[in-house]
Amino acid sequence: MSKQSQLAIGLDGIAVAETDLSLVDGLEGLLVYRGYWARDLAIHHTFEEVAHLLWYGHLPSEEELTALKNKLKENRELPEHVKGLLRMIPADVDMMSVLRTGVSALGSSAHGWPPTIDEVIAVTAKMPTIVAFRYACLQGREPLAPKFELDHTANYLYMLKGTEPSHAHVRALDAYLILTQEHGMNASTFTGRVVTSTESDLISAITGAIGTLKGPLHGGAPSEVTEMIEAIGTKENAEPWLRNKLENGGRLMGFGHRVYKTIDPRATALRVVAEQLSGDDPWFDLATHVEQVGLRLLAEYKPGRKLNTNVEFFAAAVMRAVGLDDDLFTPSFAVSRVVGWSAHILEQAASNRIIRPQSNYIGSMPE
Ligand code: ACO
Repeated sequence: MSKQSQLAIGLDGIAVAETDLSLVDGLEGLLVYRGYWARDLAIHHTFEEVAHLLWYGHLPSEEELTALKNKLKENRELPEHVKGLLRMIPADVDMMSVLRTGVSALGSSAHGWPPTIDEVIAVTAKMPTIVAFRYACLQGREPLAPKFELDHTANYLYMLKGTEPSHAHVRALDAYLILTQEHGMNASTFTGRVVTSTESDLISAITGAIGTLKGPLHGGAPSEVTEMIEAIGTKENAEPWLRNKLENGGRLMGFGHRVYKTIDPRATALRVVAEQLSGDDPWFDLATHVEQVGLRLLAEYKPGRKLNTNVEFFAAAVMRAVGLDDDLFTPSFAVSRVVGWSAHILEQAASNRIIRPQSNYIGSMPE
């Protein structure tokens, strides 16, 4: 038998890079972006300011912020061939697949190696436009052109809904988009770094990351949270529904996390945002009841696993409260996480070594 490598299924507990970008401490429930608490950034800063922090390493001066905002605004429009493609994709293709295809179509010979900050800004600027363009097509209305006067988050809501959003909605969505910009070596970020490590281009790395985020065990959960709450329907039905799910070996969406074995700090921050927006909305009242019953039953069925509510549970509540449909939840996550993906991609490219793990052969040998 040839020598076997140490086995780490799911790469549990394995570090594959050193990073300046974020600390995710799952035991203490801490999330830090480049020396700042993520929750403080979400309360006191904007999407563009935190993107600047992750990309350039510091919060921007006034001039730096204006320059970044202008670059994002100048890059929002989609090339004609991408618009044509987005119109052609059949209506039953899900939004994440459309986003993956639209981003992939941005690739050109201009995107080479190494990735540049200008390419990063261009793809970050265009992703909201791709989502909003497709959403308008599905609704049978002509897509709106991006509005230059509006900042990133406000413009995204404007293009989706067709009217200028309220300050409260912009701030709430901004908080969500900041809290999900970056999160260490999660599955989609790892995908982006693996693609980059082969000296492939930025667009290929982002396209791969979008495909990874799509899965329900990663970014596909928030719409499944709303489906679960809607299927439960009433407070009385919460316990039998959730119990039945667990009895049949099912997973409760919006609970559990690979890293957090205590409360997810993003969930704590987003709960406050969702509470402020939802007021006495019966949906939110039911959701918080489902959370309490879910936590009790998980402690009963999965003792010692330390399963808590994760970011997706309250992400669903915030996005629903600002009026986004379920099929926009995961694409909106991608619109924010592209910042972290691209920061990691730049970091990987700056000191690259191809990522190439092993597998241990357990099949038979030739006679
Ligand atoms: N519902 C029921 N049981 C669960 C859940 C859940 N949500 N999460 C974990 N468990 C159970 C597992 O079945 C396992 O049980 P076992 O020890 O009897 O086999 C135990 O708890 C440990 O779970 P793991 O599978 O080891 O956890 P892992 O780190 O592999 O998975 C994951 C983490 C995928 C997030 C998982 O908790 C899950 O499926 N949650 C539901 C989906 C979800 O909310 N995804 C969003 C995650 S947040 C994000 O990606 C941004």
